[in-house]
Amino acid sequence: VHGLRNAPDPGPPTVDVTATGLSSTPVQQAVELARRYGPLYVRRYHGRDSVWASSLALVEELSDETRFAKGVGPALENVRGIAGDGLFTAYDDEPNWAKAHDILLPAFAMNSMRTYHPHMLRVARRLIASWDGRFTPGAAQSAPVEVSEDMTRMTLDTIGLSGFGYDFESFARTEPHPFVEALVRSLGHSQAKLARTPGGDYSAEDAEFAADAAFLARVVDEVIGARKAAGDTSTDDLLGLMLGSPHPGSGEVLDEANIRNQVITFLIAGHETTSGTLSFALYHLLKNPAVLHRAQAEVDALWGSAPDPEPSFEDVGRLRYVRQVLNEALRLWPTAPAFQRRALADTTLGGRHRMKAGEFVVVLTPMLHRDPVWGDNVEEFDPERFAPEAEAARSPHAYKPFGTGERACIGRQFALHEATMLLGMLIHRYRFIDHRGYELKVKETLTLKPDGFTVTLAARTPED
Ligand code: HEM
Repeated sequence: VHGLRNAPDPGPPTVDVTATGLSSTPVQQAVELARRYGPLYVRRYHGRDSVWASSLALVEELSDETRFAKGVGPALENVRGIAGDGLFTAYDDEPNWAKAHDILLPAFAMNSMRTYHPHMLRVARRLIASWDGRFTPGAAQSAPVEVSEDMTRMTLDTIGLSGFGYDFESFARTEPHPFVEALVRSLGHSQAKLARTPGGDYSAEDAEFAADAAFLARVVDEVIGARKAAGDTSTDDLLGLMLGSPHPGSGEVLDEANIRNQVITFLIAGHETTSGTLSFALYHLLKNPAVLHRAQAEVDALWGSAPDPEPSFEDVGRLRYVRQVLNEALRLWPTAPAFQRRALADTTLGGRHRMKAGEFVVVLTPMLHRDPVWGDNVEEFDPERFAPEAEAARSPHAYKPFGTGERACIGRQFALHEATMLLGMLIHRYRFIDHRGYELKVKETLTLKPDGFTVTLAARTPED
């Protein structure tokens, strides 16, 4: 025993996946590896190592901002091909990060949320009108609705209108907006690039990525151009702040290239993840009728049986259980499922993994959210985990769907306001029918979403 105690710790296990390859669902693959090899392991692929961490103890360390900061790892390096030095993909020490962060912060204060609320409501009603349109007259059940696609239409229109006064009119289109197609393709490409093998010819993919990046930039120039042409100089949304509001300290404004990167960033960050969250939430409600009933009781108590309630800004804050449902959906399937931390100085993580300054660790959020601190029924969907007493009793580092520290998500309240209101309105209005016995399949394009998830709808009756 004595000898063992003195033996040097070999460090975390190394798992070489070169032979098996990286799957098209790398996060789910990383989750499987974590189940087999534990909460800290090194994944080796063609000689490239990445370190994956997922226990509460490790994430508590990694959240210490005196030791670690955000790392722009290989995945985000690829996304820089479309979003450059925008907030999400900026390096910590890039001057444009702090500059844009300070200029844009007021756009995420409580008062700004009030100005976005009417836009969010307007778009929520578009989705409802579209779903109502899936009923043929006289039929008790609607035709199937494509949940993820419609949620994406909703969140894209919402960020477009709230952030930039631009209307993507996604519900007027049968196919997703070309911007979404280019975006999803380029995010998928940014992910696929991580799995490349040495010596392969990827020139066709690279050309497609470059074409998509150019197309995204053109759409954004159109968004900016429309605002300038309208002679609108208000500063009550993201674009207004960027075009018309100098930095509070230095008086400098953002340069044109940076504004374009920010608009792309917000259009990406502001819709894919929220849309996935809503889709997962609906999936879990479908599979957990008791939870759905409780959430319906909450919206019914607030809005009665009026078919078309007029949710106020304050109402959304009152839907506490609906919000718990969203929190729990983000626990099981955090739609931005990983983020990287960079060591600020040489250090040892978890008492065993030596790191040099500048080295990265990936936080694997879905496994953190299944740490034993969550109990022994971690796969069960239970929004009670987010009751205020339960939350107060738990380490804040056990739950990181929005990242951590200074570089955590700036849009968290925006996303939760938008999603809580829409989910509340949907469960108030419809009964959901699992017409095909959907089995969850999670699709990955850097973000997560349920793949091929459809439901049919029925009007609610007083009994349900
Ligand atoms: C950052 C998740 C919605 C804008 C982040 C990060 C995560 C995240 C994990 C940190 C990434 C890292 O450390 O590398 C989510 C999820 C959302 C959501 C799960 C929805 C449920 C939004 C929305 C917006 C937004 C609606 C904008 C309106 C951003 C921006 C950053 C960010 C700009 C970068 C912040 C910075 O580094 O300064 N988000 N996000 N996100 N998010 Fe979100």
